Amino acid sequence: MTAGPAWEVHETPAALAQRAVELISAAAQRAIAARGVFRIVLAGGSAPQASYALLADSAQQWLAWRVFLGDERCLSADDPQRNLQMLQEKLLSRVAIPAAHIYCPAVETGCSAAAVSYAQLIAPHLPFDLVMLGVGEDGHTASLFPGRAHDPDALCEAVTDAPKPPPERVSMGLGALRHTRAVLVLTSDSGKRDALARWRAGDTRLPITRACAGLPGHVLIDRAAAD
Ligand code: 6PG
Repeated sequence: MTAGPAWEVHETPAALAQRAVELISAAAQRAIAARGVFRIVLAGGSAPQASYALLADSAQQWLAWRVFLGDERCLSADDPQRNLQMLQEKLLSRVAIPAAHIYCPAVETGCSAAAVSYAQLIAPHLPFDLVMLGVGEDGHTASLFPGRAHDPDALCEAVTDAPKPPPERVSMGLGALRHTRAVLVLTSDSGKRDALARWRAGDTRLPITRACAGLPGHVLIDRAAAD
């Protein structure tokens, strides 16, 4: 157990994205050298999008990448609000990662069935090398929201009545998100200051606190989120 991820403040969202790509590239090189594959969990939301776009222009051994979605929104396949749509646009359609190496919940089957099948899909791939996460204003991460019981061992959760739209989601649970060699949390929004302060103070009611406690890695925030 380490003290938890190291916090870094970057002056601009562009500097933050540059640093994120450096950290992802280093993690990929280490993992591929050691085990031949790089298993990365990608976050949804807006904060990591600049990093994904920059990553798409970087030189990587894409055939060795295994990509997992940390959470998905239960919406139709072509809905632009789907995390997979965003990831396709910013990164996945622009690089040579084979479709068979991209793992996401089958939300078309309904959130309960998709959570069960996604847990079965990801289990053989654990541990991950790097889990990327975002943070919500209420301290949620992936689709684990505060005020709900989160089984520390659950690989996946079916989420209904989520406070952030859409209400139905499928999320990796703490048992999967924490089964990783490192975490990389990105946030760049002044609306997150309160949640970040509570996280730093160790408030375990916040899912982001529980997801990252004692894990190595980095939290990258920009000046707007820091001040
Ligand atoms: C999702 C997420 C969620 C997100 C945070 C931060 O809604 O799909 O995975 O956990 O990462 O809500 O989102 P922003 O970066 O857009 O603020």
